Amino acid sequence: MQHIQFYQEAFLKYLNDFKVERQPASLYQPIQYILDLGGKRLRPVLTLMTAEIFNCDYKKSLDAALSIEVFHNFSLIHDDIMDDAPLRRGKETVHEKWDINTGILSGDAMLIMAYQLFENYDAKTFQALAKLFSKTALEVCEGQQYDMDFETRDDVTIEEYLKMIEYKTAVLVGAAMKMGAIVAEASEKDQQSIYQFGKNLGIAFQLQDDYLDAFGDPKTFGKQVGGDIIENKKTYLYLKALEFSNDEDALQLQHLFGISPSENNDKIESVKQLFITSGSADATQQEIKNYTNKAFSVLEDIAISEEKKQVLKQFGEQLMSRKV
Ligand code: IPE
Ligand code: IPE
Ligand code: MG
Ligand code: MG
Ligand code: MG
Repeated sequence: MQHIQFYQEAFLKYLNDFKVERQPASLYQPIQYILDLGGKRLRPVLTLMTAEIFNCDYKKSLDAALSIEVFHNFSLIHDDIMDDAPLRRGKETVHEKWDINTGILSGDAMLIMAYQLFENYDAKTFQALAKLFSKTALEVCEGQQYDMDFETRDDVTIEEYLKMIEYKTAVLVGAAMKMGAIVAEASEKDQQSIYQFGKNLGIAFQLQDDYLDAFGDPKTFGKQVGGDIIENKKTYLYLKALEFSNDEDALQLQHLFGISPSENNDKIESVKQLFITSGSADATQQEIKNYTNKAFSVLEDIAISEEKKQVLKQFGEQLMSRKV
């Protein structure tokens, strides 16, 4: 088992060899653009690490890792269209740089490429990977649709929110790890456990993403800070603030989530203040810790060395303290 950085470098090298200089350039250039933009590469690194955790050479899982990262980047192109987002990883989003139609079709092509990468495995592994992938990708669509539907609903519950982020984000983190376990031919029980670890880490990860969307540093965050507030996203921050606020503040918050920022220049700042004064910002931080610890407790069921568990825990700790 190597250090996290080792897997990052190994993945980047593999990604770099996966060039898509094909015609028509108007289809493939946006794909190269988004893949070259960077990002944390956390999902593919988890795939590679999981393969090694279950005693398999990480190299065997490179195509599965690449598939997950290509799928993730496809989902970001379409997500940025749906969220009307101008910035991704500090640069223009694909639909801003080109146009929405380009974002749709280049995204579709990436989804197909992601599937195609499984062809590099033998029939049994191919089937297991494709089955998990199809289930996961459909769940991501379901989560994305809930996310959009919630923008215009005013009765979203915390429970519904948690289900939504489990589907739009956490299942992919779980699947990234399970794919490493599938390639490594780990037992069914271990595959399930590592999936649960990844899923809980993924929930913590999306809670943190929502937190940073409001409170991240615009200089380093790489996305438009306040984007979720502009789009009236019913995040944990928002739902907990409603729960904790007195009637007056709750009404004010609901009012702010019914107007566009152009109607009230202070919308973003006012909402952020309510997130802080209500105690919701702190509660969100606490919930991030809770889900990270829940992930860590799953490790108790897996028969791997303490050293390997420490690498996974370190990964979880790093995610919790991230700023991007
Ligand atoms: C962004 O994912 C989308 C979410 C599920 C929150 P990441 O934060 O992993 O994005 P990159 O790949 O590092 O840019
Ligand atoms: C992204 O959720 C989920 C998927 C891409 C499926 P967000 O909309 O919060 O992700 P960011 O903040 O744009 O990266
Ligand atoms: Mg988005
Ligand atoms: Mg979104
Ligand atoms: Mg976000």
